[in-house]
Amino acid sequence: MARSATATIDLSTIAHNLNQVKIFTPTSKVIAVVKADGYGHGIIEVAHALHNADLLGVACIEEAIQLREAGIKTDILLLEGFFETSELAQIEQYDLQTVIHQQAQLDQVCAFQPKNPLTVWIKLDTGMHRLGFVLDQFDAVYQQLQSSSTMATIHAMTHLACSDERNNPLTTAQTNRFKATLTNIDIDRSIAASAAIIGWPETHVDWVRPGLMLYGVSPFADQTGADHQLRAAMLFQSKIIAIKQIKQGESVGYGATWVAQRDSLIGVIAVGYGDGYPRLAPSGTPVLIEGKRVELVGRVSMDMISVDLTDLPGTSIGDTATLWGAQLPVEEIARHCQAIPYQLLCGLTQRVAITYKNGN
Ligand SMILES: Cc1ncc(COP(=O)(O)O)c(C=O)c1O
Repeated sequence: MARSATATIDLSTIAHNLNQVKIFTPTSKVIAVVKADGYGHGIIEVAHALHNADLLGVACIEEAIQLREAGIKTDILLLEGFFETSELAQIEQYDLQTVIHQQAQLDQVCAFQPKNPLTVWIKLDTGMHRLGFVLDQFDAVYQQLQSSSTMATIHAMTHLACSDERNNPLTTAQTNRFKATLTNIDIDRSIAASAAIIGWPETHVDWVRPGLMLYGVSPFADQTGADHQLRAAMLFQSKIIAIKQIKQGESVGYGATWVAQRDSLIGVIAVGYGDGYPRLAPSGTPVLIEGKRVELVGRVSMDMISVDLTDLPGTSIGDTATLWGAQLPVEEIARHCQAIPYQLLCGLTQRVAITYKNGN
C-alpha cells in the first residue's frame, strides 16, 4: 500500500471564502494573502482560485516570481517589501507592488529609476512594533516618495497586534492612531487582516488583507470557520495500517506515556510529525475514523500515531482517518496542541500528497 497521508484541497471553498470576505467588507478591495505556499494549500492553485481578488499578498520576491511564472496576472504586493536593492529590478520586471517599512528601503526605492512608475505601500507602526515607520515619520516619508518621479501610487497600511482578542483596547488605539495620522491626505489605507475583518468593522477601510479566513479557518481561539460561514479548504487524512489488542495496564508508544485503563483495541495510523501532524498533540486529541470520533493515545512519532478503537470495534485496516478538515476543525486540533491553526496548515511536509478538487 502506498503511503496514505494526503491533503485534499477544495478550491471552490477558497472562492466561497473570498465571497464571505466581501460580505463582511462590501466596499473594501481585497488583498488576498497567499504567502507561505498559500498557507500550505499550494500558492499557485490558491492564486487561481482567488482570481477575483484585487491583489495577492506574498512575503518575498521568490513567492511573487513563482506566481508570475505560473501565469498569474493578478496584481501582487510584497507585504514585507524588498530585502535587497537588487530586487527592485525584479519588482519592475514582474510588475509587483512593494511595501516599504524603513528608511533604507525608502532611499533605495527613491533612487531607483524604473521605466514604469511603481506602486508603493508605506507601512506604519501603530503599536505592533514589528515592521513600520513610526507615525511621526509619515509626513516626511510621504513627501520623499511624492517628490521622487518614479512613484505611480502611494498607499498606507498598518498591522494589528491583538485583533483576535475581541475586547483588546490596543486595536481601537492602533486604528485611531492610523486614521489620525492620515486625516488630511487622500491616500488608500489598509488595516484589517482576518480577525479584524470579522470582529472590528471600524478597521474596514479601502483595502482589507485576509489570509487565514480564505482557507476557511477562524482567527479566534474559541471559534471555528463555520461560525463565520467559512468553509475549511483542507482535508488532511491517512489510513489505519495496523490494529492490535492490548491488555489493561499495557502502554502505547514512545515513553510509554499512555497506559490502557481497560483491555483496549489500538489502531495505528500512517501519519506523524514527519508529515506535519503536530508532535505535541497529546493523548485525547480527536481523530475521525470513517467519520467517527476516537482519541489519540501515546506520543506522536515521525510516521505514525495510535488511536483508541475500543469503542469502535468494527474498524478495519485501510479505514480512513481524518486528522483535520470540515468535520474536524483544525482550530480544535490546534487548541489540543497549544498551537495555532496557521502553524498546522503551513506545517504539512512535502511527503503529503496534495490533490485538488473543485466542489463535490
Ligand atoms: C501584513 C499582513 N497582512 C495580512 C496578513 C493576513 O493575516 P491573517 O492570516 O490573520 O488574515 C498577514 C499574515 O500574517 C500579514 O503579515
